[in-house]
Amino acid sequence: MIQVLFVCLGNICRSPTAHGVFVHLVEQAGLSGQIGVDSAGTSGWHKGAEPDGRSMAEASRLGYDLSFIRSRQVSISDFEEFDYVLAMDESNLGDLLDICPPDYRHKVQLFLSFSDVSEREVPDPYYGGAQGFTEVLSLVEKGGVSLLEHIKHHDRSELR
Ligand code: 4NP
Repeated sequence: MIQVLFVCLGNICRSPTAHGVFVHLVEQAGLSGQIGVDSAGTSGWHKGAEPDGRSMAEASRLGYDLSFIRSRQVSISDFEEFDYVLAMDESNLGDLLDICPPDYRHKVQLFLSFSDVSEREVPDPYYGGAQGFTEVLSLVEKGGVSLLEHIKHHDRSELR
């Protein structure tokens, strides 16, 4: 089993969007039994909250369900448990590397590093308008497709 954790600041906008979209892609690929998906925030500010209504609305417009997700903060045990710990932006990446035990640093990467999109980061939409949430969804779909292709290739022995 390959375990994937998406991480942003609040775990109510970007990482739950990536979580819900990636669950959908994994199901479509028939790999739900082989790839586990979760998300978390570097902060615990929204602990227990459902995703932001703007993220849920944008996701549902495109056929994705985020309603099962509740915010939680990243914990040190996540670095051992997950194979991929994927940051939405450079700030999240820095915060993760600050707390990651040395043996697991190779697991911590920018989510979009698996994709050939020109963007390196999924920008924080929280204080902006609706366009930001549309942009998050679009980047997350592209990034998710590329990540799944990477895992299918790179981790194929674990997916059997
Ligand atoms: P996220 O967005 O990191 O994509 O979940 C944010 C959510 C909440 C806050 C900032 C960003 N906040 O400042 O509460």
